Amino acid sequence: MTGDRAPARDWWKAAVVYQVYPRSFADSDGDGVGDLGGVLAHLDHLERLGVDVLWLSPVYRSPMADNGYDISDYQDIDPLFGTLEQLDELIAALHERGMRLVMDLVVNHTSDAHAWFAESRSSRDSPKRDWYWWRAPRAGHAAGEPGAEPTNWRSQFSGPAWTLDEATGDYYLHLFAAAQPDLNWENPEVREAVYSMMRWWLDRGVDGFRMDVINLISKVVSLPDDPDGDASPYVLNGPRIHEFLQEMHREVFAGRPPGLLNVGETPGCPVEQARLYTDPARGELDMVFQFEHVDLDSGPAGKWDLQPMTMLDLKRSLGRWQSGLAAVGWNSLYLGNHDQPRCVSRFGNDAPEHRDQSAKALATVLHLHRGTPYVYQGDELGMTNVGFTRLDQLRDVESLNHYADAVEQGDEPAAVLAALRYKSRDNARTPLPWDSSAQAGFTTGTPWIDLHPDATTVNAAAQVDDPDSVFSHYRRLIALRHDEPTVAHGTFEMLLADDEQVYAFVRELDGTLLLVVANLSDSAGVVVDLAVTGTDWAGAELLVSSVPRTTPAAADPLAPWESRVFRATGQ
Ligand code: NOJ
Repeated sequence: MTGDRAPARDWWKAAVVYQVYPRSFADSDGDGVGDLGGVLAHLDHLERLGVDVLWLSPVYRSPMADNGYDISDYQDIDPLFGTLEQLDELIAALHERGMRLVMDLVVNHTSDAHAWFAESRSSRDSPKRDWYWWRAPRAGHAAGEPGAEPTNWRSQFSGPAWTLDEATGDYYLHLFAAAQPDLNWENPEVREAVYSMMRWWLDRGVDGFRMDVINLISKVVSLPDDPDGDASPYVLNGPRIHEFLQEMHREVFAGRPPGLLNVGETPGCPVEQARLYTDPARGELDMVFQFEHVDLDSGPAGKWDLQPMTMLDLKRSLGRWQSGLAAVGWNSLYLGNHDQPRCVSRFGNDAPEHRDQSAKALATVLHLHRGTPYVYQGDELGMTNVGFTRLDQLRDVESLNHYADAVEQGDEPAAVLAALRYKSRDNARTPLPWDSSAQAGFTTGTPWIDLHPDATTVNAAAQVDDPDSVFSHYRRLIALRHDEPTVAHGTFEMLLADDEQVYAFVRELDGTLLLVVANLSDSAGVVVDLAVTGTDWAGAELLVSSVPRTTPAAADPLAPWESRVFRATGQ
């Protein structure tokens, strides 16, 4: 634990964050949907794992068009998840255990059921009209006719990024679903309303925020058409983004005691931008979730245009971010979350004979990088993709919209389903399996989405007491970050950058060297050429080994997906 007594300004460098997607974590009232009662009942799991921070995906009032990323009241809890009193209880319970709570906050858009939007849409003269992006139909077009949208932008969730509101005959902008209208951050009243709500949460005791798609809040106000119908060039890292984030920092965070965390989700953010966002001297964000490595398997047509990805692609991408933020700024380290397929299926090998070792190898590599690691619920158990074969197994608005849209455009349904099988967000949203009982101990009712087919064997009860489990491996890695300052603060040097199987690097701090070697392949007997390090590792101390009950030396050949960490001091 980093504990909460007198935290340093950058306490989060030695911390590990655990993401709870509450709908799928644990259900305490039998309605089949996870809730705050479920989170409160399972804090032992987090404490046992040793994590420092809980990032809670949205629990605010919401019509759930996008599972809570469509907020209709920022200052209340949705009854589906519980009550504000339970949220207070959660803050207190976490603080008592030396952990912190980071709330997921969605302020690029609200729900269309938010009172702000209801007021804004009520008339062209509404005092809140300008709180959202309203535009008349395209010149020469009547409202509602094809092509009348004010720009040709597509929404992230398929279809046009504009929806006509019959009441006034204008269109409103939504970069995501039609139920998620974008707020107009150009309006200072909007900004102040958001900041005051954020202060309200901090005053209530939460320890910070994970800011949803925060680099989308500043748009090119002329909202031009795009040659490809892509909104990205006009909404990603827009003209006033740094100004807005600096203002947010001043208005919400500045002057408060250290111990808070503000992490931004930033799709389409190059490393040069990330350096600006996370340079402490600029007062914007503490760290960002960049997307480069989770876009490696996307082709030119986007997320569903699958393209092959190799380990070298991953290594080069993460390596570039390590050097890009070495001197200034800070990395968030993640391989999965509620929007991504399971990391073992994507970057590892989820075949039964490789699943556990590849889950451990990915964890070893990720947690030993320089940056703050994020564990997505279930990754600590080595959960895999589901293997969806039917559309009725899916629930996610993005997946369902994409299927309808692509099939309507003439794509082969089987091919569309194959892409969903690999990349649907629902892969990460199956209930967390707590034990091998009926419904995996997740609910006494019917889960809102089917359990993972492996839940009877891959579950928390089967792993928490097993020293050889994926869970225990994660636990050791998290403890190592707390105990060995080189993990949090050391420099990073990639080794064997062109090796297609070995992912290896050295960390260094004040004469302590850590060597991380991992075989990210199915091949046995993989040898790592340690001569390149210029260090003699023969007598180095083995800190972590992924293969149970072995004490390999640094130079010993690696089994498939084997990973190890060594320490040498006084170099
Ligand atoms: C990113 C969130 O992580 C995702 O779940 C959501 O659908 C979009 N932003 C829109 O809020």
